[in-house]
Amino acid sequence: MHDFKYVGRTLYCEGVTVESLVKKFGTPLYVYSEKTLTDHFNKLDQALAPMEHLICYAIKANSNLAVLRTLGRAGSGFDVVSEGELRRVIAAGGDPGKCVFAGVGKTEDEIRFALKQGIYSFNVESEAELHRIDRVAGKLRKQAPVAVRVNPNVDAGTHAKITTGTYENKFGIAFEEIEALYARAAKLKNIRLRGLQTHIGSQLTDVKPFEKAVTKLVPLVVRLAEKYGLEFFSIGGGLGIVYQPALASGAETWWNQPEAKGILNPALYAQRLLPLLKPVSHLRLLLEPGRFIAGNAGILVTRVEYVKRTGKKNFVIVDAAMNDLIRPAFYDSYHEIVPLNKRGGKLISSDVVGPICESGDYFAKDRPLPKVGEGDHLALLSAGAYGFVMASNYNTRPTPAEVLVQGKRAALVRKRQTFEELWSGETVPTWLK
Ligand code: LLP
Repeated sequence: MHDFKYVGRTLYCEGVTVESLVKKFGTPLYVYSEKTLTDHFNKLDQALAPMEHLICYAIKANSNLAVLRTLGRAGSGFDVVSEGELRRVIAAGGDPGKCVFAGVGKTEDEIRFALKQGIYSFNVESEAELHRIDRVAGKLRKQAPVAVRVNPNVDAGTHAKITTGTYENKFGIAFEEIEALYARAAKLKNIRLRGLQTHIGSQLTDVKPFEKAVTKLVPLVVRLAEKYGLEFFSIGGGLGIVYQPALASGAETWWNQPEAKGILNPALYAQRLLPLLKPVSHLRLLLEPGRFIAGNAGILVTRVEYVKRTGKKNFVIVDAAMNDLIRPAFYDSYHEIVPLNKRGGKLISSDVVGPICESGDYFAKDRPLPKVGEGDHLALLSAGAYGFVMASNYNTRPTPAEVLVQGKRAALVRKRQTFEELWSGETVPTWLK
């Protein structure tokens, strides 16, 4: 359950009205609920309690230092995919010893940095990377802890851009090749085989692909663990969230909805997967969820600038754009849109669009919305994951501010970019001066 709710007609984040945040910090504005972040983390953590486990929050979903600090305090480890992300974790006071480093393209510099910090494990994506890690570790006279990412060839059935577990994509090493690879890896002097990892895709709302992957992989993990003394099995991230319907219909958010509807939730996830994991219960289970923890914990607030009717369409033009939240433009994804002040009256089919000069710059198409006008504010829900982190400066638009709420308190956790910052790293060559 998330903590963005109407009290009467007013939208609150925990104990604070979103309107008051807009007055103080302007728009476009990302607002995060600390309680939602920790609740989501705790729900998952508790559901997995029967097995020794570590949740490594995938910080690519939302890497604001305040978010990392919140989750670190709750006991989370972190999944990072770049030196920058590892540095963020450290800057937020996180423990590198609870970090896994994933990604298909780790550079030598990144490997060196991660080894020096003493990360928990590299999630290795190719044999060439294994050799590179061995080499770099040798130079540093260190043992590099690794887990190879196995591609189980299970279709997660999600959006093509975020499905990763089939042989159609660049991730991991084919299931059939893993044992031979571990045998070769075991001979590398500076490699310590610590685990096995998999991740089949993102935004899974059905538990079956997870069951399939785990069922297929467990016997392999048993064999490898015995042979090489593995310590952990990571089943990746990918737990989906419900993007609709939420507030507008008054429905409770997703994990309170009946399981009969087939919606994935932590209890169901644990109930179905833990029995399958019994044969490897002597290992530590790792999870790398991003969206599940941060997704429903954030909203993007935007101001209505114009309402324009052309042809048959009603366009609501807002001050946020695809550069602030790219998911609808990129994945055609759905975000619930609600006014900060709930109103009655007829719903009008509307396109909610940003000011950028591209027809892809939209947040919703033909969406029934209450009547709004210039100066009203709208909230795009479930924007806490893959929202701000995917923002750009396209059209020379500063990135929005971010605010974290805890109870009745709110703090600016990233200030709005200034115009000068946008070109502060640029120079004009001497011959043009
Ligand atoms: N582990 C690995 C190896 C991953 O590639 C990912 C996500 C995760 C964990 C975390 O997945 P999650 O629990 O958040 O589903 N920008 C897209 C999502 C891209 C996901 C990339 N990998 C979106 O906005 O939907």
